[in-house]
Amino acid sequence: MKITTALAKVQPSYIREILSTANRPEVISFAGGLPELQSFPMTLINEALAKLHNQPALFQYANTEGYPPLLNFCRAHYALDDTQTALICNGSQQGLDLIARAFIDPQDCVALQAPSYLGALQVFDLAQAQIVSINTDNQGPNLAELEQCFASNKVKIFYAVPDFHNPTGACWSLHTRKRVAQLCRQYQVTLLEDVPYRELRFSGENLPLVSSLCPENSIVLRSFSKSIAPGIRLGLVSGPKAWLAALVKVKQGADLHTNVPMQALLFDILTHTDFANHSQNLKRRYRDKYRHMANILSSDFASVADFTPIEGGMFIWLKIRHCDTDALAREALLENVAIVPSSVFFKGKIPNNSAIRLNFTQASTAQIELGLKRLLKVIMKLQHP
Ligand SMILES: Cc1ncc(COP(=O)(O)O)c(C=O)c1O
Repeated sequence: MKITTALAKVQPSYIREILSTANRPEVISFAGGLPELQSFPMTLINEALAKLHNQPALFQYANTEGYPPLLNFCRAHYALDDTQTALICNGSQQGLDLIARAFIDPQDCVALQAPSYLGALQVFDLAQAQIVSINTDNQGPNLAELEQCFASNKVKIFYAVPDFHNPTGACWSLHTRKRVAQLCRQYQVTLLEDVPYRELRFSGENLPLVSSLCPENSIVLRSFSKSIAPGIRLGLVSGPKAWLAALVKVKQGADLHTNVPMQALLFDILTHTDFANHSQNLKRRYRDKYRHMANILSSDFASVADFTPIEGGMFIWLKIRHCDTDALAREALLENVAIVPSSVFFKGKIPNNSAIRLNFTQASTAQIELGLKRLLKVIMKLQHP
């Protein structure tokens, strides 16, 4: 059977392909966006699982919005006001897909940061959106470019990852947050704020959600993949009630509702007295791994590369001078190191100053040392053949 025209245009995910190779035991992977296995709160998970065995009602069909105790907890925890509501999804990725299906007609204009999260590019491509890329640096999107884009296109959605962006790790300044909120209001653009890394701040001060500065114009996507574990596949969409009602309709057609036993498990974990300890430990572990990688990069890679320090998340964006990073990724894999070159995160025009995305959460500190040693050798070989 012939696949749809929209699907035929979607490129296979480079990261999925590289991950299949990166899973070989001899490969040290800085490629995926995988949380550290050892950081999963297994004691809390096991305790919560044990409580499921005598609750048959949790295994019945249920309402689409989500498991009521979890929904109520989220409404209170994220301080949603009376104009807002929430929907529990199969990961925030499902939230993205539902939003595209509910609100994007073919050729509707979606603006997003370049480089971009690949999963978002894939969703908006499938929805046949017209995608406009806004250049992004370590402060966030180029504001002049964003305003020009809003002024000259009928932009329906601006998709953004303001906290520890995937792939650059950048966190928007307060000034950028205020200005983006103002522009979304002025041009009546819906801000789609995706914040899966927000809970992973290990230094610096929390900044307000951009959506908190323009709530009537925003939808927020949250994820429990990075703060707990991705295999539970749970995320939360919140926003104005009328928009969420549209998403509920689409979700009914997609899968009726999210897995209730897993929602009950998540509720149990989030409300456990030890959850705060888990969050602190997770951030400490990621901070230490980040510092370890950053120290090596600052000393050993100084003559060939540079990066902007980050305050949270899971990625370092390493800019490498005079280097074809596509070739570097291929060569590095031959030396058993997996990285992702910058080119895969761009749609359309790829800038000259190439970079790589390095994940610092999955590898152990010993693997970080060895992997970076191998990587430096390959960079040197490419630059001085
Ligand atoms: C920016 C961004 N949004 C959404 C997701 C999807 O997360 P989830 O596991 O909640 O579906 C990811 C996953 O890596 C991501 O990086």
